[in-house]
Parts: sequence; C-alpha cells; structure tokens
Amino acid sequence: MSKVDVLLGLQWGDEGKGKIVDVLTPNYDVIARFQGGPNAGHTLEFNGMKHVLHIIPSGIFHKEKINVIGNGVLVEPFIFDQEINDLRKKGVEPTENLFLSKKAHLILPTHRMLDAANEQSKGSNKIGSTLKGIGPAYTDKIARTGIRIGDIMEFDFREKYEMLKAQHLQMAVTLKYDVSQFRIGDLTLEEYEQKWLASLDTIKKFRLINSEYFINKCLDEGKKVLAEGAQAAMLDIDFGTYPFVTSSNTITAGVCTGLGVAPSKIGRVMGITKAYCTRVGAGPFPTELFDETGSTLCQQGHEYGATTGRPRRCGWIDIPALRYACMIDGVTDLFVTKPDVMNNFDEVKMCTAYTINGKDTTEIPFEYNQVEITPHLKSFKGWKQELSGCKSYNDLPANLRTFLYEIEQQTGVNICAVSISPDRKDVLFK
Ligand code: GDP
Ligand code: IMO
Ligand code: MG
Repeated sequence: MSKVDVLLGLQWGDEGKGKIVDVLTPNYDVIARFQGGPNAGHTLEFNGMKHVLHIIPSGIFHKEKINVIGNGVLVEPFIFDQEINDLRKKGVEPTENLFLSKKAHLILPTHRMLDAANEQSKGSNKIGSTLKGIGPAYTDKIARTGIRIGDIMEFDFREKYEMLKAQHLQMAVTLKYDVSQFRIGDLTLEEYEQKWLASLDTIKKFRLINSEYFINKCLDEGKKVLAEGAQAAMLDIDFGTYPFVTSSNTITAGVCTGLGVAPSKIGRVMGITKAYCTRVGAGPFPTELFDETGSTLCQQGHEYGATTGRPRRCGWIDIPALRYACMIDGVTDLFVTKPDVMNNFDEVKMCTAYTINGKDTTEIPFEYNQVEITPHLKSFKGWKQELSGCKSYNDLPANLRTFLYEIEQQTGVNICAVSISPDRKDVLFK
C-alpha cells in the first residue's frame, strides 16, 4: 500500500507550486487538488508555452496521468468551462483523465456577488480577496446550505439553486450592496448566470466520482498519488494571518479532509518557498520592502498575480514564518524557487527573528496583525552570476549555496531541489 505525497506552499502563495507539480508528475499516477478553487493561479511553462491553471490540477499536461478535483475544492462551472476550453486550444483533451468529486461544492454566481459585497462593506479593512466567491461558498458549505457537484444531476437541482440564490440576494440587501453594479468582465449578474448555468453541461461530461474511494483504492493498489496544495500556510484559515487569509485549510491536514485519506496515509510532505517572499492582497508582511530592492524583486520576478494581475508585495525571506509553516505542515523536503531573480544583487537578506514591543522572538505571535514587527535581517553576499548555466545543484555558485544552507539550518529541513527559471526543465535536484 502506498501513501499520498503532498506538495504545498509555505509562504503567502505563488511559490511556484504549479511548476513543481508539473515537474514531479512523471513520478506519480494521480495528481489531486484538495482545497481552494479558482482563487489559485498555478503557472506552468514548457516548450516556450506558458499556461495558468486555476481549478484543474497541474498534472493535466501529462495525458496518461489521472487528475482529481477532490471534495475539499470549490468549483466555479463558468471558470471551469473556460479552463477546459483553454486546454483544448492547446491540444489537451482532459475528458478522459480529469475526474471530479461529487462532494466538491459549487461556487454560485451569487457567491461571487457576495464576495464583492463583503469586501465593499469592509471599507479600508478589505482582505484583498480574489473575488472568486471563495469565502461565501465555504461559508455555505460549513452552514450546511451549500450545493455540491453531485447535486447537478438531481431532479431538484434548480429548486435548490433558486433557494440559495434568493438567500444571497437578501444578504446583499443587508450589506447595502447594489447588485445592479456587479459585473464579471462586462457581464451583469443575469448574463453571467446564464453562462454559468450553461457551463453545468461541461461538468456533466466529466467523470463525477466518490473521490475518497478512488484515491484510497489507488493507494491500496500501490499507485502513487500527489496532493497539490493551493494558497499556502500563511493564508490558512486557522494558522494564517487571520482574518487576512483564505477560507480553507491549506496545510497538510487539509489533505485528509479534502481527499478523504487518513493521517497515517500521508507520505512525504514537500514544501515550497521562494528565495525571497511575496504576498498579494492585504495583511501583515514583516519583511516587506517599500524601496528600490522591493520594486526590483517585483520587476525581475514578474510578481503580478496569475489570477488577478495585481502587483505582488515583495520582501526578504521570512524564517520565523517559514519555520512555523514547516512545523504545522510537517515538511520533510524543501523546494526553493526563484533565487535567479536576485542574480544581480550585491547582498541578499534573510529575516531570522522579530522584535516586537522591545522583545526578540522567533515565534509568530497571536497579535501578528496588530503589532509593529521589526525583522532581524542577516546579510549574505550576492552571487552576482547568471544561473542558467547550472545543470546540477553543485554547479550553483558558492554564495547561493551558503544562503541555501542557512535556510536548511534555520528550518531544520533539507532542501531537495532548487528551481532557477519558470521553465519545467530548470529544477536542480540535490
Ligand atoms: P503557484 O501559485 O505557487 O503555482 O505560483 P504562480 O504560478 O502563481 O507564481 C509563480 C511564478 O513564478 C510563475 O510566473 C512561474 O512561472 C514563476 N516561476 C516559478 N519558478 C520559478 C523560478 O525558479 N524562477 C523564476 N524566475 N520564475 C519562476
Ligand atoms: P495560489 O494557489 C496568492 C489571497 C488573496 C487574499 C486572500 C483571500 O496561486 O498560490 P480569497 O480569494 O481566497 O478569498 O482571498 O488570499 N490569495 C492568494 N494569494 N496566491 C493564491 O493562490 C491565493 N489565493 C488567495 O490575495 O489576500
Ligand atoms: Mg499563484
């Protein structure tokens, strides 16, 4: 019997999960998403082509591998339909190797409307949501009022849909939100709803399964399963910088509930960190840089949201946050991405501790959002060299290896590979 390996983000998202899953896929039989939804944007690059996935797992470009959208994921049919069309334009036909859990919840048009209404009502305290309806749809799941993929096939689907929609429209009134101003692109709510309803037909053409049985059967047969995380530890609903978080458990524990596998069936836990740090949306970010170095990281790293296009906030790598993520996730192997973005830097810094109210700490405090945090920055000599010529880990410049060694020492986790470009081929395993 085999176990589920896990790959997830350790910062505030966009660490390069999509790229690494794509690279690891040849070693697995099944790739499964376990949480999140179209708030994710996972970028893959190979053969000069760039592709961004939102709901569909990043193993989809390998046609002999099964990709599963697990019960913990939220599916927005209109976005799903667009993703399928984008894949078809690139010559990928996913109907045979993409399965959806019947228990995955749907994001309704009015969930997206409510996301906008909630954000508007928060004024200057906005979360900076991707506005894909994530918060309202998970709220309905927990309130036991949500609608699941399997319900699409039921005779009373439309009745359930209309009831929930009516509740949402009532909530918009309470929030004093003018529904007539809501748009998805150029579409009004009614126009978007028509497209959303039509997209349900696309979903019906896929295999809708009890994914918990499917995954556990695969494990019993000795097949290899990789769980692909979305968002990251510091955006986790319980352990992230609440309330500036997403609405799911993004951590390893989320694999158990989001796929229906027991904790004893979790194998390796691969965590990803950038060699620096980014965050998109509001919330605390102790190592954020507001100077030229910050804008260089943003420009060189092309740090613009893969889902929303928003510029990402940039700063130095944050070890207290990384160590916290490794602890909560039980990380066994580290992947480090994007050191190449700092190739021209004279010096590279790492935050090793915080000062809060005059006291030094290496822990993430409960009051993370309320207090002023001064990062302790340790400086390293830059490597001042292109990395494109490096074909193995040992080819990496000595100054970069010193920096990477310090990450291992500080987190207590070994680095198993370093990524040095957006392309699939540029991952150097140790
Ligand atoms: P994800 O959400 O974790 O899958 O990450 P995103 O796709 O949102 O953002 C990562 C970005 O960095 C994408 O544009 C990737 O193409 C790019 N990327 C990934 N790894 C590397 C790397 O090692 N070097 C550089 N320069 N870019 C990378
Ligand atoms: P991937 O999988 C980065 C952020 C949003 C916002 C907060 C809540 O590509 O790493 P939500 O739409 O979930 O209600 O937004 O979480 N956020 C992400 N930031 N990468 C993501 O996904 C994110 N998904 C959500 O910017 O601050
Ligand atoms: Mg992303």
